[in-house]
Parts: sequence; structure tokens; C-alpha cells
Amino acid sequence: MTGALLAWVKRSLRDLPWRNTRDPWAILISEVMLQQTQVNRVEPKYLEFLKRWPTPQCLANDDLAELLKFWVGLGFPRRARNLHAAARQISGCHQGTMPDSLEDLLRLPGVGPYTARAVMIFAFEADIGVVDTNVGRLLARWSGDSLRPQLAQQIADGIVPKGDSWLWTQGMFDFGSTICTKRKPKCQICPVKNFCAWQGIGSDPAFQSAGVTRKQSRFEGSDRQARGLLLRALASSSLALQDAPSVMGLQGESARAEKLVRDLQREGLLNLKNDLLLLGNSLE
Ligand code: ADE
Repeated sequence: MTGALLAWVKRSLRDLPWRNTRDPWAILISEVMLQQTQVNRVEPKYLEFLKRWPTPQCLANDDLAELLKFWVGLGFPRRARNLHAAARQISGCHQGTMPDSLEDLLRLPGVGPYTARAVMIFAFEADIGVVDTNVGRLLARWSGDSLRPQLAQQIADGIVPKGDSWLWTQGMFDFGSTICTKRKPKCQICPVKNFCAWQGIGSDPAFQSAGVTRKQSRFEGSDRQARGLLLRALASSSLALQDAPSVMGLQGESARAEKLVRDLQREGLLNLKNDLLLLGNSLE
């Protein structure tokens, strides 16, 4: 199984910018961006980010507002706030050097098991597995069962070919996004079909299995959209608090707008000074 998949990977691996580095800071940035944003949208932003903030120290020395301005368009801005806090922690507690153990990585703000494991594999070539939405789907289909998270992680750890975790894991991502896709998997041309319990027949074991994401909720008319509109406007200039509802597309829904502004303030994404809304947190 691993041999057949590795042979496919060696022929097919995509050339992506974060695959030409082992710099743990660059890997962290790419994995944080890739968690909720598509590869083609991440590529230019990843390169631009590293030009601007090539080390944790560079980001730690800059204001959160600058990173939030940069982050417009990527969505899920808490990721930016967490990265900024992580950069400050790395420069304060680790002399500017990225941690190189799972335990220390997991202590960084916004870094959960997925990101910590991805950094260990892609920067330090640790022989461990990681379960994201692609890997979760493959494991469920191969085993023919919907998996609980702990079992999925155990299987992912167990099938990593020793010394090849970097190639294996990058390959699993590409295999999941090109052959064993969520909808209409290409079982006819699958190089590991003989090892797969499902083979595309009957109900999909990946449905509701560990790591496999549920459908994203509707964006149009959502709180996420309204928050995004406000942060986008604040990236160009400060705003009067009273203008927030109209900027957010929430005219006539002032209670909802007020709550969203308060949430953003509590999350450290914006701050309020004399009825003026500004990007970033109030500590700067
Ligand atoms: N999704 C998450 N991590 C990825 C990576 N390293 N390459 C491609 N897609 C990914």
C-alpha cells in the first residue's frame, strides 16, 4: 500500500512554494493559511507574507493592525491575531527560534494538534502522522469504516513510512485533492484501489468520519460576512462607531451589529477610542 502510493506521489507531487523550504516559520505560516483557505489563494499571500515578515521577530516587532490589513481577503482573521501572538511568544520565550517539539508548538496561540504535527513533519521530518480533512477521508475509505478521532490519528501515525513522513504526508494531501476527492473520486485510475476497502461502492465511509469537515455554513448574510466587511473597511481607515451597521450591511439590525462589534473588540481584532473604531487591539 505505502509503496504503491509513494510511487504515485513521486510522479505527481505538486510544486508548491512551501514545499521548497524546511524553515519552520514558513511552514507554520503556510499551514495556518491552508487550514481554511484554498491552495491557489494561499500561494501569493504566503510569498508576500514571508517577504514582509521573514522571521517571527519581524512580525513580533510590527503592530497587529498591519497583519490584519494584510489578512483581508484570506478570512478567519482570528488566525492572524493568533499568529501575531505566537510571534511575540516565540520572540519573548524562545529567543526568536521556532520551537521544535510537539509540546512546545502546542503551547503557541492558535496552534492545535493539526498545525503542530504539520510543522513537526514538514520542517523537522518527524515520523508521525497528521489528520486533516483529506487524510481523514482517505483513512476512512481505505479502512471501510467511519473512524473516531483517536483511531484516525493512531492509523495515521502507524502507516507513515519510516524516514519518508514529509513526502508521504504531502502526497496524501495531493492524492486527496486530485484522485480520492470528496465528490466523484477517480477510483478507475486509483493506484491503491486494491488496498481500499471501499473502492467507491456503496455509502461513503468518510461521511461524518474523524477530520472530515462538515459543509461550511452559508456566507451570504452571515455574521462572518458582516465582520469581514467591517474589518475590510477598517483596513483602509478608522470609522465612526455609528457607521458600523451600514458598513456591515446591517442597517435596521443595530443590536446585531453592536454585538458583532463587541465580539470583535473582545477578540482583540478591533478597538474603540472615543467612538472611533480602529483595527487591532487596544494594547498597542
Ligand atoms: N493543505 C494543508 N497543508 C497542505 C500542504 N502542505 N500542501 C497542500 N495542501 C495542504
